[in-house]
Amino acid sequence: MNFLPESIEDYIKTHTETESEILKDINHETWEKVLNPRMLSGHVQGRILSMLSHMINPNNILEIGTFTGYSAICLAEGLQENGCIDTIDNNEELESLARKNFKRSGLEKKINLMVGDATQIIPTLTKMYDLVFIDADKINYSLYYELIFDKVKTNGYIIADNVLWNGKVTSTPKNDDIDTLSIINFNAKIQSDNRVQNVLFGVRDGLMVIRKLI
Ligand SMILES: C[S@@+](CC[C@H](N)C(=O)[O-])C[C@H]1O[C@@H](n2cnc3c(N)ncnc32)[C@H](O)[C@@H]1O
Repeated sequence: MNFLPESIEDYIKTHTETESEILKDINHETWEKVLNPRMLSGHVQGRILSMLSHMINPNNILEIGTFTGYSAICLAEGLQENGCIDTIDNNEELESLARKNFKRSGLEKKINLMVGDATQIIPTLTKMYDLVFIDADKINYSLYYELIFDKVKTNGYIIADNVLWNGKVTSTPKNDDIDTLSIINFNAKIQSDNRVQNVLFGVRDGLMVIRKLI
């Protein structure tokens, strides 16, 4: 869903740094070969993630939801010299494509792909993160937030994608629309959490940007 008129979306695209050839190829290949290619962050959101990562200049990033690797590469662009992004996905079928894409990007030494269920993997992680990007199954957003909270440094950031959920967050969802209900609950949870500062960016499908205060 486009929230803005197409002409404005096009204007934004043409006044945003272009994608690198590698990212353009990953974007095209994902649309050609992979189910649900719309899940990929894409040109403008990818540049936003890269920009935010450069602003934060993190040492450690955690991404929940690798898919074909597009957003991990964008986030890795802003890492410190010896920094690392851990990225988790439970879809084994995407592993070889994601690894190929990391190699193509030249950033593979900074990207650590973990294949498995994020709800199981996160409790085993021992690092403290400067930035966490939540972009996996919507039903677990609140759980991911709880699991990662103590692993985020004070003044660290958490970014959650798809928090507008195609605009459905403003509707009254049916009881069986678990994804919409989960996103609505997640947004309410963040809004009432006095341990964080938050702003919902109306970019693409909505990015909740959260800064940990404690
Ligand atoms: C929206 S896509 C991620 C898109 C990617 N961040 C990007 O912008 O290019 C969501 C991904 O989360 C993964 N996923 C869903 N549930 C998961 C779970 N419980 N643990 C780990 N990964 C999961 C899916 O396999 C899918 O690849």
